Amino acid sequence: MQTATTLEVLRSAVDQLRAGGKRLALVPTMGALHEGHLTLVREARRHADAVAVSIFVNPKQFGPNEDLDAYPRRMAADCALLEAEGVELLWAPGVEEMYPAGFSTTVSVAGVSDGLCGAARPGHFDGVATVVLKLFNQVRPDVALFGEKDWQQLAVIRRMARDLDLVRPHVEAIVGVPTVRETDGLAMSSRNQYLSPAARAQAAALPQAMREAIAALAAGSAAAPTLAALEAHLLQAGFDSVDYAALADPLSLAPLDTLGDAPARLLVAARIGGTRLIDNMHVGPTGKPE
Ligand code: PAJ
Repeated sequence: MQTATTLEVLRSAVDQLRAGGKRLALVPTMGALHEGHLTLVREARRHADAVAVSIFVNPKQFGPNEDLDAYPRRMAADCALLEAEGVELLWAPGVEEMYPAGFSTTVSVAGVSDGLCGAARPGHFDGVATVVLKLFNQVRPDVALFGEKDWQQLAVIRRMARDLDLVRPHVEAIVGVPTVRETDGLAMSSRNQYLSPAARAQAAALPQAMREAIAALAAGSAAAPTLAALEAHLLQAGFDSVDYAALADPLSLAPLDTLGDAPARLLVAARIGGTRLIDNMHVGPTGKPE
């Protein structure tokens, strides 16, 4: 695996990997890699001849009171994991390389960024869209893979890719990968390691409560009482607060009052022991979880 920390080295590495019309996949990450990230890497291999992974803890997507400094950084362990997966290229720029002095452009995707995590974390999706567009321009991948774990992020990136003509028509260039979960159902996340053992055990209530809500929606319950019951369940199970619990259109993320004939998405963000956890699940017209 070649590691590039400067744009100059990255460009020649990318030119080599793309020589002869070879397809290149990109998996953008912030490191502290777990099985969810590695599933994206394995999926990337199915779409391309060579795989590039980026590791960059992007300061622009963290709010002033968020966990930028505390965010886990484990470059040596991450490199070993990526080597074992046969990844060809690691792009690991420093903050100065990504945002040199004078940097002043922001990419903002209106609408889909506004609610849910966007409301709870102002500016977050501007930071994500800005860095992801830069990563696309830097690495020039044929395909990029993102986890459904961050459903709103995926929706923002898909919207940006369409709006800014980043993808050729009819090519599936932004690939979403289903959420990888622990055995008790908790979605894998680099932030799970912040949880105390007690909070970690309680956190399994999140996917459980979501599955119950999906069953209630399938049985004909309206969204408002179902979401209120979901919130109550989480607070009773030891969560400190619920940022949001929403039933929404999967693409626009516009809120839905009831489960109709089309698929919907259940999205939740809740705090436990000082850590904010997010999760989302498909709600089929039949109300079956994925
Ligand atoms: P990060 O949180 O490191 O996640 C990198 C990618 O891994 C994202 O696409 C995320 O959705 C995916 N991922 C994380 N946990 C997952 C899980 N349990 N199952 C499946 N996929 C999972 O998301 C970011 O970094 C950043 O916002 C980034 C896109 C890199 C921009 O800075």
